[in-house]
Amino acid sequence: MMDAPVITNHKPRVLVTRRWPKAVEAQLAERFDAQFNTADKPMSAADFRDALARFDAILPTVTDKLGPEALDVTRPQTRLLANYGVGFSHIDADSVRAHGITVSNTPDVLSECTADLAMTLMLMVARRAGEGERELRAGEWTGWRPTHLVGAKVSGKTLGIVGFGRIGQAVAQRAHHGFGMKIVVQNRSPVRREVLARYGATQVKTIEDLMPLCDFVSLHCPGGAANRHLIDSRRLNLMKPDAFLINTARGEVVDEHALAQALMFDCIGGAALDVFDGEPRIAPALLGCDNLVMLPHLGSATRETREAMGMRVLDNVTAFFEGRAPCDKVL
Ligand code: DGY
Repeated sequence: MMDAPVITNHKPRVLVTRRWPKAVEAQLAERFDAQFNTADKPMSAADFRDALARFDAILPTVTDKLGPEALDVTRPQTRLLANYGVGFSHIDADSVRAHGITVSNTPDVLSECTADLAMTLMLMVARRAGEGERELRAGEWTGWRPTHLVGAKVSGKTLGIVGFGRIGQAVAQRAHHGFGMKIVVQNRSPVRREVLARYGATQVKTIEDLMPLCDFVSLHCPGGAANRHLIDSRRLNLMKPDAFLINTARGEVVDEHALAQALMFDCIGGAALDVFDGEPRIAPALLGCDNLVMLPHLGSATRETREAMGMRVLDNVTAFFEGRAPCDKVL
């Protein structure tokens, strides 16, 4: 596999697939021969095949489906896919390996804001904030009463975290130290004792062990084929009947059909989703569920974080074309 770029006197040709924060676009334009997608429309597989023949680096993001079809090219010019975002399950690992293309991502800088959004969702669904706002805006609020939109208390409850990487830990930090929640963790590999101790957390082996213990379950594992429908009807059925499921990871991790059934038949207390399978398309069955909060993939959507993500990509691309390994190389 070849990682090293061909060093020339020309600025590397770089394609940015969506609009990015202005400050980052300005730096990209200064440092590279950069082309921007000013229409901000997702590119097709054919657009990518064409771009792979012309650009030294492509800077994609989660909306870019870089599957086998988009990467079905011979001898691509592109040596680097510097992804804007931490998740990279939209990029086909086998194809990029076969081409010897390097892939980098943007970890760390979005952990806090994504964890903040997971807490937002947890509070919104438990305290019925979405229902309340819909009622008020519809002019249907008849005033305070002791039995109105009574939700569930969050403070002091048990939170199960599936996937205990940077974002999972940032959620544990907020939930344990801010809301006095008890933390239970399920992770592919054992988590070091001192890391668990930081959040008063205990680790269980399987999702089957975790589900029945928790009042809230928050997903922070990667997406992709390996985790597709990790949360299915069997595992949803293991949740307490008043527990809540939160997903800020990737849509495909949850079987949405099974979730809609669980919500409609009150098998669980509610759910809150920031990500969807096949987004921005929303499964019609979900739209009818009142005990479901839905946001349009806002996990990292703060001015500060979106700029920091861009700067992180800039560092990765710069390092690569200076002949160093990008510090966030993932493939
Ligand atoms: C991430 O960084 O993975 C966000 O979900 C955007 O892709």
